[in-house]
Amino acid sequence: MNNDFLVAKGVTKRFGALTALSGIDLTIRSGEVLALLGDNGAGKSTFIKVVSGAHPPSDGTILIEGQPVSFNSPKDAADAGIATIFQELALSENLSISENVFLGRELTNTVLGVPFLRRNEMKQRVAGLLDELDADISDAEAPVGSLSGGQRQAVAICRALNLNARLVIMDEPTAALAVAETRKVLGLTRRLAERGCAVVLISHNISDVFEVADRMVVFRRGRKVAERLRNETTPEEIVALITGAHPDVRALEKAS
Ligand SMILES: Nc1ncnc2c1ncn2[C@@H]1O[C@H](COP(=O)(O)OP(=O)(O)OP(=O)(O)O)[C@@H](O)[C@H]1O
Ligand SMILES: [Mg+2]
Repeated sequence: MNNDFLVAKGVTKRFGALTALSGIDLTIRSGEVLALLGDNGAGKSTFIKVVSGAHPPSDGTILIEGQPVSFNSPKDAADAGIATIFQELALSENLSISENVFLGRELTNTVLGVPFLRRNEMKQRVAGLLDELDADISDAEAPVGSLSGGQRQAVAICRALNLNARLVIMDEPTAALAVAETRKVLGLTRRLAERGCAVVLISHNISDVFEVADRMVVFRRGRKVAERLRNETTPEEIVALITGAHPDVRALEKAS
């Protein structure tokens, strides 16, 4: 069976004279958590922005389920099932959880030409998603402003699921979280993959990555320098790949 959801081939991104990404070949698979690692400025966020329609690539191709796509906007990528959760979560503090999950896509009925919100249905749908994610939030009507950082991540994940996302990309989801909350969010990440979603996790935290990722890809100076299955590598090797101390990276950088 082929679980390839998204395949990047030779993806390159230039900003004027600066090459932020150079010939990236990468496959993102359904049911798998893929960690994207690399030092500051390695190109992780730029790659994510290309995949999520925020930047057009300068060169290269993106295939979704085997079909070439060209996204002109984040909406194009969202319509293709790609949801990106950025660190600044873009939730509305004053609105409830269920209002946030349905923001911009509210369910309505029209009676005599007047639209009505189907509040109960939305509430139930969100309660179901929270329950399925085992998110530890009992009241979908609570305002997001009253939630912790980890609970907010859960709301953002619900929002992605409610949009039927098939690929959920999370850029540093645990950077601002305390230990228990981090555990919770990492658990959510796993459950997304178990539901059949493809998940990309960007993180600087090696132990988080080893806890949830099935596969790891290391970027360095805009290039992909390594790809490893979790079972075939160690945190020490990954750190050496990130910093460039690893012999594979030295050889690669000497050759170019
Ligand atoms: N809009 C832009 N215009 C010009 N240069 C940019 C732009 N966005 C990113 N860059 C450059 O591209 C390179 C890669 O940046 P990117 O943000 O992708 O790194 P990153 O791996 O996400 O780093 P970090 O871990 O710090 O978030 C950097 O040199 C950055 O300065
Ligand atoms: Mg970044």
